[in-house]
Amino acid sequence: MTAAAVGADLVDREWSLAELALAYSYPESAGREVWLRANMVSTLDGAGQHDGRSQPISGAADMRIFGTLRALADVVLVGAETVRQEGYRPVRARAEFAAARAAAGQGQAAAVAVVSASLDLDFSVPLFTSPLVPTLVLTGAAAAPDRVAAAEQSGARVVIAGDGKGVDPARAVRALAGLGHTRLLTEGGPRLLGQFVAADVLDELCLTISPMLTAGDAQRISGGPRVAVPHRFELVSLLEEAGFLFGRYRRS
Ligand SMILES: NC(=O)c1ccc[n+]([C@@H]2O[C@H](COP(=O)([O-])OP(=O)(O)OC[C@H]3O[C@@H](n4cnc5c(N)ncnc54)[C@H](OP(=O)(O)O)[C@@H]3O)[C@@H](O)[C@H]2O)c1
Repeated sequence: MTAAAVGADLVDREWSLAELALAYSYPESAGREVWLRANMVSTLDGAGQHDGRSQPISGAADMRIFGTLRALADVVLVGAETVRQEGYRPVRARAEFAAARAAAGQGQAAAVAVVSASLDLDFSVPLFTSPLVPTLVLTGAAAAPDRVAAAEQSGARVVIAGDGKGVDPARAVRALAGLGHTRLLTEGGPRLLGQFVAADVLDELCLTISPMLTAGDAQRISGGPRVAVPHRFELVSLLEEAGFLFGRYRRS
């Protein structure tokens, strides 16, 4: 892996997980104030998925960084469609990160927080019934009561973060912070990420550029209504392995 961290020398060898964890550490303030980071992968021509999944456009180093970012987070926020299409499972505890998590006052693994208005989710799967840390379900106050009950019966914790059926993205971030979760990671999908962008609550984007072309009409990594004025981000670091580029961008 080659690193071109801004202001740093080039390093050309595979990075250990500890080095990756250091390279992607949350800002120190994130222990007290909320910090929302997104991790997304895109092809050269802007596709955020292939055949409904991101795995075909990912690679080994992308998966190492994906796992590292999860290991640094308090909560992984994800849209319900990604959960349905990618068959999301709970986040695993990883021995390599156990000491660092304990030192940071974090539990064994990040909780998953699923954002859904319909609550049309299969609550019988391990994501809800047997996670290490109870899965959170973020929804609106007008969500169907029978679906809320189904979520709670599975063991999930339902968090209301909107007045109607939907979730207000800024309120979702505040609600998680109110539960003590300040190191937030969102893994999309594009419809959810677009709302965090539009609400201007995204602090950081970890973007993998995959050396692939897919043409077609796949979603970009961020969708929904466009923002009036483009939000400017600055490059913090850029890593490379096997032709994949791993950029870390922070809100200017
Ligand atoms: N390239 C990448 O890095 C990456 C990352 C993640 C996913 N993906 C791909 O993206 C695709 C899925 O993404 P997507 O954009 O279609 O869907 P998504 O953002 O994962 O999920 C959309 C769903 O989330 C819920 N949701 C979103 N905003 C909400 C709000 N404000 N209030 C309440 N619920 C809300 C709704 O669920 P309900 O319908 O249940 O109400 C909505 O249908 C998959 O193909 C996946 O492979 C790619």
